[in-house]
Amino acid sequence: SDPLRLGLAGLGTVGIGTLELLETQRNLIEIRCGKFLEVTAVSARDRGKDRGFDISKLQWHDDPVALATSDKVDIVVELMGGTDGAAKTLVETALAAGKPVVTANKALMAHHGTALAHLAESSGASLHFEAAVAGGIPVIKALREGLAGNRIHSITGILNGTSNYILTTMRETGRDFGSVLADAQALGYAEADPSFDIDGVDAAHKLALLTALAFGCEVDFPGVYVEGIRNIGAEDIAFAEELGYRIKLLAIAECNNGSVFQRVHPCLVDRKAPIASVDGVFNAVVAEGDYVGTTLFEGRGAGAYPTASAVVADIIDVARGQQLPTFSLPVERLNKLSTRPMAEH
Ligand code: NAP
Ligand code: HSE
Repeated sequence: SDPLRLGLAGLGTVGIGTLELLETQRNLIEIRCGKFLEVTAVSARDRGKDRGFDISKLQWHDDPVALATSDKVDIVVELMGGTDGAAKTLVETALAAGKPVVTANKALMAHHGTALAHLAESSGASLHFEAAVAGGIPVIKALREGLAGNRIHSITGILNGTSNYILTTMRETGRDFGSVLADAQALGYAEADPSFDIDGVDAAHKLALLTALAFGCEVDFPGVYVEGIRNIGAEDIAFAEELGYRIKLLAIAECNNGSVFQRVHPCLVDRKAPIASVDGVFNAVVAEGDYVGTTLFEGRGAGAYPTASAVVADIIDVARGQQLPTFSLPVERLNKLSTRPMAEH
């Protein structure tokens, strides 16, 4: 059959990881989805940049939005980042044209997820964002599909690899915050603006998406209480350790009496709790369901290859013709989220 043609916008950490995975696993992927996947067109800001990957045979577009309208692109893969501007225009244009979109952009989804899901449903396109939450852990699928028979009571997660890497490395080596953050950036874990990582905003973006999936509600990022790890010092980590605790940046969503509470902040976690030993760039998500009980998902939460793994899983879903709602319900049936200030919690 004809190859499925991909247009990739963004050739940074995740974009290049995705190109590498698609190339090295091409036979496996063809067998698994019954179709040959071909990247035909790409876009990034700087055409001349050495990316350590040969893109000379791919059609280049200075304007990423051209991928959405190109007749050589069947699936648009958005790996640029940003809440508004090019990423939003690209995704909206592709969905409006009926093209499936795969994105790793949690900021975009946290701010505009409900509207984009609506656009996807009304144009018959599909919108996939497995890579937007918890890197390589297939937690979107787990909540939307694997746990679909449960009412979820709560979600607790370590959702930011950069923060967890910083807290872990400071604890293990006594190094200072700034130099460990610089390492996380060099390893490709951090956001373009790393304050999103260390101030808890990135974890809050992801929590808002998990909340929508787990509780069948619209995405409510402004409803998340957010506090990051910027003010955690080596002495806090050492004191916690002495008392038998670890400091973890937790993201928590709970449903109580019909209201959902969402919060991200550093927590003291008992050293013996399973989530306390989730270290480094690893993320974890604990979901409590009424029939399944407690489930724990763990894996690498950031970096080129784990994230590419999730991007490609979504691309394969599209190639297999999977048509699922963006969240766990069609948009029309998502509840408006009833949030409460922290003081009432
Ligand atoms: P990155 O390394 O900074 O790469 C961003 C890419 O997008 C670059 O190639 C850049 O072009 C291109 N770009 C940015 N703005 C553009 C514009 N207006 N027009 C055209 N191209 C543009 O970022 P990343 O770490 O790969 O992250 C990409 C996305 O994945 C973000 O939404 C991020 O939140 C998400 N994500 C990242 C990770 C991770 O571990 N890094 C994990 C999960 C999700 P140039 O290269 O020419 O500058
Ligand atoms: N900056 C993010 C993190 C990338 O550190 O978790 C993965 O979403």
